[in-house]
Amino acid sequence: MPTIPRDTSFDSTLDVLREGFPFILNRSQRYQTDIFQSRLLLQKVICLHGPEAAELFYNPERFMRNGAVPRRIQTTLMGQDAVQTHDGREHQQRKQLFMSMMNPQSVQYLMEIMADEWRATAHEWEQQRQVTLFAEAQDILCRAACAWVGVPLPEADVRQRAQDFALMVDAFGGVGPRHGRGKRARTRSERWIRDFIKEVRRGDATVPPGSPAEAIAWFRGTDGEPFSNQMAAIEIINLLRPIVAITYYIAFAAKALAEYPAYRQLLRTVPRYDHYFSQEVRRFFPFGPFLGARVREDFEWHGYKFPKGTLTLLDIYGTHHDARFWPDPDTFYPERFRDREPTPFDLIPQGGGDYGTGHRCAGEWITIESLKLAVNFLTREVEYDVPPQDLSYSLQRMPTYPKSGVVLEHVRLVVGQD
Ligand code: HEM
Repeated sequence: MPTIPRDTSFDSTLDVLREGFPFILNRSQRYQTDIFQSRLLLQKVICLHGPEAAELFYNPERFMRNGAVPRRIQTTLMGQDAVQTHDGREHQQRKQLFMSMMNPQSVQYLMEIMADEWRATAHEWEQQRQVTLFAEAQDILCRAACAWVGVPLPEADVRQRAQDFALMVDAFGGVGPRHGRGKRARTRSERWIRDFIKEVRRGDATVPPGSPAEAIAWFRGTDGEPFSNQMAAIEIINLLRPIVAITYYIAFAAKALAEYPAYRQLLRTVPRYDHYFSQEVRRFFPFGPFLGARVREDFEWHGYKFPKGTLTLLDIYGTHHDARFWPDPDTFYPERFRDREPTPFDLIPQGGGDYGTGHRCAGEWITIESLKLAVNFLTREVEYDVPPQDLSYSLQRMPTYPKSGVVLEHVRLVVGQD
């Protein structure tokens, strides 16, 4: 029986910090393998790379999420005991709750709210010499997310709430102060939404009929019991926070537009170019580096032994940057999506496999539509100058974004242009 190739370091935690996103890709190329064994934080891990390994990772008979999400991620990014951490029937029932909000009408309604927010904000930008897109888009998406979910958000609170959602995301790869800021942001946000849920349940506040907030407030799990106020808050934040997180992709899209202005014309004239462009943004630019799960029971794959309980990481970034799966992977090239539909396992920035039965991101359609909306807005509804700035990004920082935050100057609304 072959043994899984072993990384030479005794413990690779520092290598992950030093190398960042390409950590698994680097070793996959060095050892010419889609599977290797390593140690992180003194714990044995199996690292998987590429679409075939992704298909294995998304087999729920082989892997489970219970016990795979570190506490430091639960206390910042996703909340404790959230849908991401469940398996089997409990997971499927909760996942169904999320997927019931993702029908085309519901997504379209969110896009209408978001489009109004982009336009209203751009009117204000016309009065300012410069704006930083990264922060502005957080506010736009936060207002839209709260309106769609059905959570009241006074205008005076928008900046703080948007920033808190961003801080939770920013904490996922952070240690020390960055982790602390994310934790405090989560505590504030959970208190806010928990209080709102209490009011709704007492009848002191209303939620729009058919809204996601209503569905979560009155949802009953496999045990027939409603969520606690805390759990309802966590799952509502599981909608609000990631909508605000789409800002990272919007900032990267704006960077690509700034660096290759020819895309503006292509986006205005070539049918479906907004789709190709948005897919390429999600493939090319880094967001989540890898995903974790634990081996459910001992099994073998290609003769390699996977012992029960072993932490296994699936390489997201490297799968998108391997020439075997994406020719010329380090070139930003939206046209690659013209003749090629991604499979469920080769384009996995938001996970792979099936939405209903697996852990693939519930908000993938919202993300793609929001990105298309933003790109169309930036190319068709406004014109702006891009002053000299540092648009580069670090591959070691997780998450990462263009360092300047993408500064736009002299924004003009040009509604009606085609
Ligand atoms: C799960 C990424 C936007 C809701 C996930 C996963 C990833 C991801 C990597 C985990 C997949 C896995 O565990 O196998 C992203 C990125 C986004 C984004 C990069 C955009 C920047 C959204 C949006 C929503 C959302 C807009 C909802 C409005 C969820 C939920 C899960 C999830 C509920 C848990 C799914 C489950 O465990 O079954 N996302 N996501 N995400 N995402 Fe997203």
